[in-house]
Amino acid sequence: MNDSPIQSRIDAHVIPTYSRFPIALTHGEGCHVFDAGGKRYLDLGAGIATAALGHGHPELAAALAEQAGKLTHVSNLYYTEPQSLLAEKLVALAGGSGKIFFCNSGAEANEALYKLARLNGADDGQFEILTTLGSFHGRTLAGIAATGQAKVKEGFAPAVEGFRHVPYGDLDAMREAISPATGAMLVEPIQGESGVNCATPEYLLGLRALCNERNLLLLFDEVQCGHFRTGNFFGWQTIMAAHANFAPDACSMGKSLAAGLPMGAIWASTPLQDLLGPGTHGTTFGGTPLVSAHALKAIEIIERDNLAQNTTDIGNYLAEQIGKLIAAHPNVLREVRGLGLMIGVELAENIAAFAESKRPASVQIVERLHSAGLLTIPAGARVFRLLPPLNISKTDADEGLALIENVVKELDS
Ligand SMILES: Cc1ncc(COP(=O)(O)O)c(C=O)c1O
Repeated sequence: MNDSPIQSRIDAHVIPTYSRFPIALTHGEGCHVFDAGGKRYLDLGAGIATAALGHGHPELAAALAEQAGKLTHVSNLYYTEPQSLLAEKLVALAGGSGKIFFCNSGAEANEALYKLARLNGADDGQFEILTTLGSFHGRTLAGIAATGQAKVKEGFAPAVEGFRHVPYGDLDAMREAISPATGAMLVEPIQGESGVNCATPEYLLGLRALCNERNLLLLFDEVQCGHFRTGNFFGWQTIMAAHANFAPDACSMGKSLAAGLPMGAIWASTPLQDLLGPGTHGTTFGGTPLVSAHALKAIEIIERDNLAQNTTDIGNYLAEQIGKLIAAHPNVLREVRGLGLMIGVELAENIAAFAESKRPASVQIVERLHSAGLLTIPAGARVFRLLPPLNISKTDADEGLALIENVVKELDS
């Protein structure tokens, strides 16, 4: 922790949309980052699931420098090789058909999905998209309307029309909510922000059947759970591993897609792939050569080093070891859940050490972990998330487990 000039300048000059922790980070190496006072932290948050290969990766830095020396950005009025290769690769990872639209963030990717769904349903008046309670889809006006959490909407009425929410995992509720105006449903295969809640294969299969039966689009938000985090490129591919032909109609991507650089995208299946034609949608920076080259290099490294398998192996190891900690400290920890390297650890209720502060337990434990030298991400009121780089080693995982154990023991005493 430090009270650095970096912090003072940001507090003085940056609009305070984030309540930041008092840590000013200056550089990183692999799974570790360092603050302005020289303190070293193990980073199991990775920029909230963005830094897919950690920090200061030499091959990514070289790929970025090489592309920066050639062509940074020219707009989408022209063709560029890095975008062509990345689109081809993403289509292959999505199963080999369909097309990609590139943008700059997860919220923007979801905007493209909303517009795709509206255009698809326009002739039949099907403008409505059903989403789920506890979901998070981004901070744009339509994003907060789509998000199933009241807190993100406060003060921003009137809401963008055409979104209704049903409980996550409840197929009957989804079926009952369908109206003549419904054109699509949008779900996260794993809800991230509300505390790492995984869909079951039965739920996703049921949604697919319902959409087929009622001629609706099935849209997935893969922004947080996608890009190899669960052991396959898309989260749905891991959940639906036993169902080879399963696919949504379209999905959004963001966060770790370009391994820490801002990039969002959607994949749209063949019947939808040309719906967003010229003049219907766009963004100046979508799929720049610079960011595309970085994303391509990251995917090349992930595939070359078999990091999808690492994601599964280290993810299972972390979950198993945290399971043992839960058994030893039920007064502090309650549950571990997730898939691969998207792990949520739920705290027990009424932890005595947290009683004095009104701040959520999730934030209080994250602060204690900071003091111990570990970065994790709070989610909801009582969950902290581990979203480490996909190339995390067993040694780093063990370091993280030891730091968590120390803090848990302290809270249990
Ligand atoms: C599932 C999901 N969708 C969308 C978003 C929004 O992404 P961004 O912050 O890049 O706009 C997030 C961000 O946390 C997310 O977790």
